Amino acid sequence: MIEKLRIQGGVRLKGEVAVSGGKNAAVAIIPAALLAHSPCTIENLPDIDDVHVLIDMLRWLGAGVEFQDGVMQIDPTTVDKYQPPYDLSSRMRASYYLAPVLLGLFGCAEVPMPGGCDIGARPIDQTIKGMTALGADVRVERGVLYVSTMGLSGSEVYLDMPSVGATVNTMLTAVSARGNTIIYNGAKEPHIVDLANFLNSMGARIKGAGTDVIRVMGGRPLHGSNYAVIPDQIETGTLMIAAAATGGDVVITGAIPTHMEALSAKLLEMGVYVGEDDDRIHIRSDGNLRAVNIKTQVYPGFPTDLQQPMAALLCTANGSSTITETIFENRFRYLEELKRMGADIRVFGRTAVVDGIDRLIAAPVTATDLRAGASMIVAGLMAEGITDIYGVNYILRGYDGIDRKLRSLGAKVEMVLRG
Ligand code: EPU
Repeated sequence: MIEKLRIQGGVRLKGEVAVSGGKNAAVAIIPAALLAHSPCTIENLPDIDDVHVLIDMLRWLGAGVEFQDGVMQIDPTTVDKYQPPYDLSSRMRASYYLAPVLLGLFGCAEVPMPGGCDIGARPIDQTIKGMTALGADVRVERGVLYVSTMGLSGSEVYLDMPSVGATVNTMLTAVSARGNTIIYNGAKEPHIVDLANFLNSMGARIKGAGTDVIRVMGGRPLHGSNYAVIPDQIETGTLMIAAAATGGDVVITGAIPTHMEALSAKLLEMGVYVGEDDDRIHIRSDGNLRAVNIKTQVYPGFPTDLQQPMAALLCTANGSSTITETIFENRFRYLEELKRMGADIRVFGRTAVVDGIDRLIAAPVTATDLRAGASMIVAGLMAEGITDIYGVNYILRGYDGIDRKLRSLGAKVEMVLRG
């Protein structure tokens, strides 16, 4: 049992590191594989707790699943249950992606309401709107999402906001619905495009993913396929920020630079060198950084998931930075932890003002959610002294071997076992 992540700060990261497959793509693609009438092979999957919870859920539903070295074989032909259990569903956000999938297979599903990071209210009204428009009866009773249908048929759905979860759930419902569906104001995140590409590789016909109008020609039979998941946008960004934060010289390989444009632009503005070449991103910094203002937005804006590690970087930038969080209302809790390390931060509603200080000082801190964990890691790498980060379970949910990767760049990082 891991008790904490221990970081001896002050080491400049140097070298080359390969990024893992995308968490948020993986957690949509794995449930989607159940819609096929034959086995799927999915490659480049991250070895993270969220993926392992999904494996347990798929096996519980009756699927055959093998997972080794980032490659998963899924045999969906033996799935015979439509009620994933509470103890697994409540452990991650993406568990509710099983609702449209099981609805397509059985005409009904009962999925305990999803868990995931506590970063805001996270309502599911847009998922309900999308699935209902396509002919599902959807109700939430005593913490369980019940969906059923007498027959799904394509329709037009206008989402009130470009929600990732609602776009995934509506797309997954639409592939099983007869006829055409048009999703207006859909999310444009890279993992939405990856899910659409995966479904298309199974025989679906989806156009427009990556724009805000997604068209699904539903009702086509889906077969198993062999597919490789895109690299993790947020892990790439976390490593870019960590390199910049330590005055490092790091090349991140296996990445997609175009997914990183919002972050790259901000790092350039701060005075960091960012070089891009095919699937490689080179970050070099002398550690002397300018303050900047960031505002989180849906893709291709600055991602809310990088707001937290970025805040750590801004702590020692020259001048005063602002961070405005527009996506989740409760994603500033971790700032209290940065303040323990000496950060000068004040919060005014949805905006945090970060006044640059000379250096952070190591302190025991807690990861209050996954990306808060990333923030603590960046802060620990920058700080003078030894930082112990508790709440490592959050970090393991979404970062594949982050301690190993940072060590390969020279960082003094270790997982400390309890007792
Ligand atoms: N919203 C609604 N109603 C809905 C759905 C969303 O009001 O029905 C609101 C939310 O309250 C929030 C905003 O819309 O204010 C965006 O929510 P969205 O549905 O886009 O987020 P999500 O699907 O719950 C995914 C990622 C998050 C990431 C967000 C934003 C997965 C499994 N999770 O969450 O990832 O922060 O999109 O990009 O894909 C993480 O990886 O650490 C993480 C939290």
